[in-house]
Amino acid sequence: MEKKSVNFLRGVPAREALEKIIPAVSKGYEAAVLRYGTEVLQYGHFTGFKPLREIIAGLHGVDADRVVAGNGGLEVISLFFKSLPKQSLILVEEASYDRVLLDALRYGHRLAGVPLMSGGVDPDRFKEIVTRMKPAVFYGIPFHQNPFGITYSRDNRRAVEEICRENNVVCLWDVCYQSLRYDGKTNEAIEVSDWGPVLAGSFTKTISPGTKCGYMIVPKAYVTHFTQVIANTRINPNLPTQGFIADFIQSGQYDAYLHDLTRLYRPRMEALNHALRTHFPEASPHDVTGGFFAALTFPDISRERETAFIKSALEKGVSIAPAWDAVAPDFRADYEKMGFSSGLPFRPWTLKVLNGEF
Ligand SMILES: Cc1ncc(COP(=O)(O)O)c(C=O)c1O
Repeated sequence: MEKKSVNFLRGVPAREALEKIIPAVSKGYEAAVLRYGTEVLQYGHFTGFKPLREIIAGLHGVDADRVVAGNGGLEVISLFFKSLPKQSLILVEEASYDRVLLDALRYGHRLAGVPLMSGGVDPDRFKEIVTRMKPAVFYGIPFHQNPFGITYSRDNRRAVEEICRENNVVCLWDVCYQSLRYDGKTNEAIEVSDWGPVLAGSFTKTISPGTKCGYMIVPKAYVTHFTQVIANTRINPNLPTQGFIADFIQSGQYDAYLHDLTRLYRPRMEALNHALRTHFPEASPHDVTGGFFAALTFPDISRERETAFIKSALEKGVSIAPAWDAVAPDFRADYEKMGFSSGLPFRPWTLKVLNGEF
């Protein structure tokens, strides 16, 4: 009998979703190259393909100059970190997207964490940390957070923005899971004013990671400096991808596809919530409403027992990894005391197992 396995190592789009979008992507690339011609084959558009930037600007009610479209969310965040003064202090949630944290450290920036609750950060602690530490930037993931799966309440998000604005801290929201909500509700759009917040978005979780496209909206006053850093780093992004995505959004196919994705992921999310509630009621206190992540903590698995735990899970067909790189450096000691924690991305076939379809 074939051995069943469950892989909790990475959060990636469902294969069925990618298979479904193949015709639209292949036609879309051909149409974009034919429509835009040498415009998308030549150097240029350092801050991204103008028609796409205009569409994104229109969706957020900002001037297109403020929109940078790049090769994925991580790339624009990385470019933003690169554009900061060396050794900037960046506040992050107590556990966050590990690659972003590692990238900030690689640029020589410093990191500090803020505690998270089910509805966002703890606002009092946030204010206290901001006024005491005077960070340059706060990086947060307000919708379906990686790795906890939580969504900030509207009030909490606004309180964070206000504290940042009052203290001259750049509030950088990574909204890459904003449109991936599966519980029948819609996440409220974040209002962007002249000062910010800075938004980093991505089409890689919605359209496809292979097509790699993301964007950032920055304050007008930051555009010239940021453009210089971008142009010196990668000149232009992948323009045929951006041509295709611009047309995909404008034709209404993107919204229709998001609707299909929601229908595809909803039963999987429900299966995950059910399984976590049933089998790990204390290890995972929050129901997931969208995105790709939930987190589990096992208080009995100390750091010394971690390797044996991972090995024994693997022998039972469950691939799981600790999320230490995702933990803010000043929270590591507390996390070690709490026991093994792992981000739990719900991969498509993982959820099939939980659904009993496998
Ligand atoms: C919070 C968050 N931001 C950004 C990304 C990366 O996005 P992209 O593939 O567009 O670089 C991920 C991927 O897992 C993520 O979880």
